[in-house]
Amino acid sequence: MKIGILGTGMVGKTLGTKMVELGHDVMLGSRSAENAAALEWAQASRGRAGTFAEAAAHGELVFVATKGEHTAAALTLANADETLAGKVVIDVTNPLDFSKGMPPTLTISNDDSLGELLQRNHPGVRIVKALNTMWCGLMVAPRMLPESHHTFVSGNDADAKAQVVALLKSMGWRDEEVVDLGDITTARGTEMYLPLWVRLYGVKGTGAFNLKLVFAG
Ligand SMILES: NC(=O)c1ccc[n+]([C@@H]2O[C@H](COP(=O)([O-])OP(=O)(O)OC[C@H]3O[C@@H](n4cnc5c(N)ncnc54)[C@H](OP(=O)(O)O)[C@@H]3O)[C@@H](O)[C@H]2O)c1
Repeated sequence: MKIGILGTGMVGKTLGTKMVELGHDVMLGSRSAENAAALEWAQASRGRAGTFAEAAAHGELVFVATKGEHTAAALTLANADETLAGKVVIDVTNPLDFSKGMPPTLTISNDDSLGELLQRNHPGVRIVKALNTMWCGLMVAPRMLPESHHTFVSGNDADAKAQVVALLKSMGWRDEEVVDLGDITTARGTEMYLPLWVRLYGVKGTGAFNLKLVFAG
C-alpha cells in the first residue's frame, strides 16, 4: 500500500521504517522537500521524501506525526481538503506545549481535542486518533513488552477504524489489545493522559511502558 507520513521527527521516521519493513511504499512529508532528516531517512530506508502535500497525495493511508501545536497548520500546508479527501488519516499527535519547559501543558483539552480540531477543520478526511498514548518504539514493536497491553482508536468512521485496526495487527498488535473508544471526541481522554505519561517517563526513566486494562472476572 502507498503510505504517506506527515512528520520527519522520531515518530515519523520510526513509523516510516516499520511501514517499509512491512512492504509499503512510504513517503515522509515535511515543510520542505529539502529536509535533510527526511532525505537521509529515505536513502537509508528505501523510502521517499517530499513535502507535506506530496506525502499526503502519495498515501492511500496517511499518518500525521507533526509537532502538536503545529499539526493543524501542517494539514493546511498539506492541502488536506484535496490531497486527503476521503482517506484514512491516523493522527498520532499530542497537543503538548513545552514552551515553558517541563512539564508540558496541553494546548487544547477538556471539552475539545486535537483529533476533533483536525476532524472539524477537514470534514472530508477520515481522522482516526491512535497510538498517541505511547513511545514510538513501542507503537511499532508492541511485543517488546513481556505482557499484553492496550492501545486505543477514536474516530467517527467505523470503516476507517477497521482499516486502522488491520494495520495495527500487521504491526504486531493483537485484536484484544485494541480498544475502540468511540467517536473522535474520545480523543480527549487519550490526549489528556499525556501529562501522566510524561510524569511516568520522568519517574521510570524509560518510555518502554504502556497501559494494561484489567477487568473483574
Ligand atoms: N516521541 C514519541 O515517542 C511520541 C509518542 C506519541 C506521540 N508523539 C507525538 O508525535 C508527534 C511527532 O513527534 P516527534 O517527536 O516525532 O516530532 P516533533 O519534533 O514533535 O515534530 C516534528 C514535525 O513537526 C513539524 N513541524 C514543526 N514545526 C512546524 C510548523 N511550524 N509548521 C508545520 N509543521 C511543523 C516538522 O516539520 P519539518 O519536517 O518541516 O521539520 C516535523 O515534521 C508529536 O505530536 C508528539 O507529541 C510522540
